[in-house]
Amino acid sequence: MRIGFLGYGKIGKAVAAHVIERGDEVAFVQDPFVAEAGGAPVVAESDEALLASTDLVVECAMASALKANFDAIIEHCDLLCFSLTAFADEAFLAHAREECARTGHTVFVPHGAILGLDGIADGSRIIESVSITTTKSPKSLGLNPEEYSEPTVVFEGSTRDACGAFPRNVNVHAAVALAGIGFDKTCSRIVADPSVSTNAHVISVKGEGIEFELHISSFTTGGVTGIYTPLSACGSVDRVLGGAAGLAFV
Ligand SMILES: NC(=O)c1ccc[n+]([C@@H]2O[C@H](COP(=O)([O-])OP(=O)(O)OC[C@H]3O[C@@H](n4cnc5c(N)ncnc54)[C@H](O)[C@@H]3O)[C@@H](O)[C@H]2O)c1
Repeated sequence: MRIGFLGYGKIGKAVAAHVIERGDEVAFVQDPFVAEAGGAPVVAESDEALLASTDLVVECAMASALKANFDAIIEHCDLLCFSLTAFADEAFLAHAREECARTGHTVFVPHGAILGLDGIADGSRIIESVSITTTKSPKSLGLNPEEYSEPTVVFEGSTRDACGAFPRNVNVHAAVALAGIGFDKTCSRIVADPSVSTNAHVISVKGEGIEFELHISSFTTGGVTGIYTPLSACGSVDRVLGGAAGLAFV
């Protein structure tokens, strides 16, 4: 299989190394700030010829890059994307669904930094309420650390509005909204806590006869991504590409 990368930072590099380890090929790396990617072709803009010979593109750049490159990618390939706050734009989500139907290609939504997205999607018909609280350091949220001496709620409202306010930090909220009851009904809370060096998420789901609460915490490695996400991204790529014999967790 040939896998292309839109974005070659923390997640992109980890997944590209995994792709090579699997015996698959890195078709291209598209990242305007990268000059070399282990011998794979590096492009600054989307390249139709490369996309036409690619099976899957992994987007791990940012929401604006996903939106800007979506049409070119989905015309030729399936897409596994991490910058899910892009889908809080209702028109873009509707367009993405239409383009998938037209082209027969799939947008894969990975569980990323959290767990249980499959379970939430499975139960979505009977789920009535979903809330997510994310606690990160002010720095990780892109806020000025000097302004926060104690845990402070910096956002409370719909996931749609959270995606607008913190587009780089609430991709997991967007993932849960997509899997569950949508961007307007899902409630988001973001806490800036100067004492933490983790990204922590508490997801509460209630519905007809069901109740789940998920607590997920992962140390940060600097930037927006915790140590768990690159591992989970490699697992998602394995599930998308398939081909391994043995036990499969679905
Ligand atoms: N869904 C999740 O659970 C989850 C978890 C962690 C991170 N994320 C998101 O995944 C994305 C990648 O995370 P990361 O930690 O690898 O980030 P990173 O900052 O380490 O890497 C991002 C890369 O994208 C590149 N880039 C910037 N603009 C670009 C453009 N226009 N076109 C192509 N490349 C561009 C940058 O040069 C950089 O190399 C971010 O949007 C992040 O918020 C999602």
